[in-house]
Amino acid sequence: MSTPIQGFSKLSKAEKIDWVSQTFTQGDPETKSLLTQYWHEDKDLQKLHDEFIENTLSNFYVPLGIAPNFLINDHLYAIPMAIEESSVVAAASKAAKFWGTRGGFKTEVLGTEKIGQVHFFFQGDPKKLNTFFAHIKPILLADCASLTANMEKRGGGISNLSLRDKTSDLAHYFQIHAVFQTADAMGANFINSCLEQFAATLKRESQQYDGFSKEEQSVEVVMSILSNYVPNCTVKATVSCPVADLEGIDGASGAIFAEKMVQAVAIAKAEPHRAVTHNKGIMNGVDAVVLATGNDFRAIEAGVHAYAAKNGSYSSLTHASIENGVFSFWIELPLALGTVGGLTNLHPLVKWSLAVLQKPSAERLMEIVAVAGLAQNFAALHSLVTSGIQKGHMKMHLLNILNQLGATAQEKEQLVAYFKEQTATHSLVVSSFEALRKNGHL
Ligand code: MEV
Repeated sequence: MSTPIQGFSKLSKAEKIDWVSQTFTQGDPETKSLLTQYWHEDKDLQKLHDEFIENTLSNFYVPLGIAPNFLINDHLYAIPMAIEESSVVAAASKAAKFWGTRGGFKTEVLGTEKIGQVHFFFQGDPKKLNTFFAHIKPILLADCASLTANMEKRGGGISNLSLRDKTSDLAHYFQIHAVFQTADAMGANFINSCLEQFAATLKRESQQYDGFSKEEQSVEVVMSILSNYVPNCTVKATVSCPVADLEGIDGASGAIFAEKMVQAVAIAKAEPHRAVTHNKGIMNGVDAVVLATGNDFRAIEAGVHAYAAKNGSYSSLTHASIENGVFSFWIELPLALGTVGGLTNLHPLVKWSLAVLQKPSAERLMEIVAVAGLAQNFAALHSLVTSGIQKGHMKMHLLNILNQLGATAQEKEQLVAYFKEQTATHSLVVSSFEALRKNGHL
């Protein structure tokens, strides 16, 4: 077992790689060459990446692809997606093409409220705390004026401040619950700075408040932090068309296809095991765009899954209906995204992705991301209720298996052509590859 190392972060990059290589791979020179092989030859660009995090050793590549032909509110978009899963971009493109001839995607931002909280304990009379809060509310806002000035110029700021009594959940627990508008920024730094100022003001004012006893004056602030649960920062994306326009999908009637899609959504609404996988497919699209545009996909994941459980049981994020001969399929997602600040002006590929999306506002990006999620779910359910998922998935995964087997370019070409005619399975690909190698033909 290795011993703990002191001061690792202070070592140079080369020293860190040496230490990792000596400690975990017996000094194998391949460790070093593997890591350095992924360094960018442009030293400034590499330095930029080195400085994103602590202890950078190398870069971890994920493919950046593009799904073209997304008709959203009558505008055409090509959507950049950063993702390693073989079939995701292909599925998005397929859904975009499908809906491109059926009216496209329609979207609507339903709200843009962000939330932050100061969590504190107060051992005293809640009525007195209420009076105290009414007294300090203008002071809390005034103390934040220098922090909010810039955001207010951009149309954002603090839109509400309230005191929340949480003592029925946890003894003596209260919150300052703050609502923010952050314009085109995701706003995490702005929100957290305001919250830390609220906490300082709360402590200072409570200590000198005459209406409190000595004990009540010692309000105990535990922490101040934004919430990634943003149920009022939501966007809706919809596709719909007459059932008659769904005629002929996989040889089925439009009515049968539409009915199966509605059933598939109903199952995901009723059954959490299915809902998790259903929503995972949605997040294939959402995360890929969130990552490509330099946003925080962990924050989005956490908020989206909490939203999926908002009615007390984990459920589908998409909805489907057939009414008066019209099939509708839609999604509502909480998405706190930014198109300024953070990585958006720093990472060259993030800048490129935003340029491809025609420099969207945060609201426009919410719409595009929701569309990517809806498209992904449509494509997954489309396959699941018709041919099954493996046909398309294995078609896209085929090259990964062939690369793993060390197939030559010519062998790949022959095997890809061969599997156009039949569904690939891992064992069938391996045996077909072996037969081709041995006999020179299939
Ligand atoms: C795979 O990444 C995603 C799916 O499992 C989603 C779904 O089942 O709806 C295909």
